[in-house]
Amino acid sequence: MTPRLLLVLALWAECASGSHRREGPGHLKVQCRAVRYPIAIDCSWTQPPAPDSTRPTSFIATYRLGVAAQGESRSCLQPTPGTPSCAISDVQMFSMVPYVLNVTAIHPRGVSSTLLPFIPEHIIKSDPPEGVRLSLIPGKQLRVQWEPPRSWPFPEIFILKYRIRYKRHGSAHFRQVGPIEDTSFTLRTVRPRARYCIQVAAQDLLDYGELSDWSPPARLPITPGK
Ligand SMILES: *[C@@H]1O[C@H](CO)[C@@H](O)[C@H](O)[C@H]1NC(C)=O
Repeated sequence: MTPRLLLVLALWAECASGSHRREGPGHLKVQCRAVRYPIAIDCSWTQPPAPDSTRPTSFIATYRLGVAAQGESRSCLQPTPGTPSCAISDVQMFSMVPYVLNVTAIHPRGVSSTLLPFIPEHIIKSDPPEGVRLSLIPGKQLRVQWEPPRSWPFPEIFILKYRIRYKRHGSAHFRQVGPIEDTSFTLRTVRPRARYCIQVAAQDLLDYGELSDWSPPARLPITPGK
């Protein structure tokens, strides 16, 4: 039932925003992510550039749990009314019904609302792992270590798993390892003088949401002075 409901909502959202398009202001591109699940959901939006549209002066962001119109609507907290982002801080885990975010842009010539339905677990995407570091160990082995992203609030409860990708300088393709639950991995038989580029990404252990972006590359040879 849920996927169908989502489809209906998606169509509804399309229609709702589409019907406003004719009046001038373009509709918003709204995105929500649970980068700090389950503490909050962070949403942001942009307006696709359109030559004849006026820039919104402020936004009203609200959300409801469930699609029933009589459901209680709460405000999604924005730093200022002009900021194109907001945060939902009372996240109900494993909800059977979707949240629906409603972002209303207020233009000099009118208002337009954009609706985005989502289930928190489906939009989990943590920040990349942090502190990725390399150390050479005897026997031509290379140890890669990292920490879960600091923005992920409860790494002991909502466990992340990791993928590692690496390539030698000049080679076209990455090799991938994982997923693993450890926060370290040993590459065997690295070439002593070769240059390596290594990155790590995180995902929820239970496969909710999607893989994080890749961490900034850690490189071998290790630059002195660390
Ligand atoms: C979206 O929010 C605006 C402003 O609060 C409100 O006028 C409008 O009715 C809401 N739309 C829906 C579908 O809830």
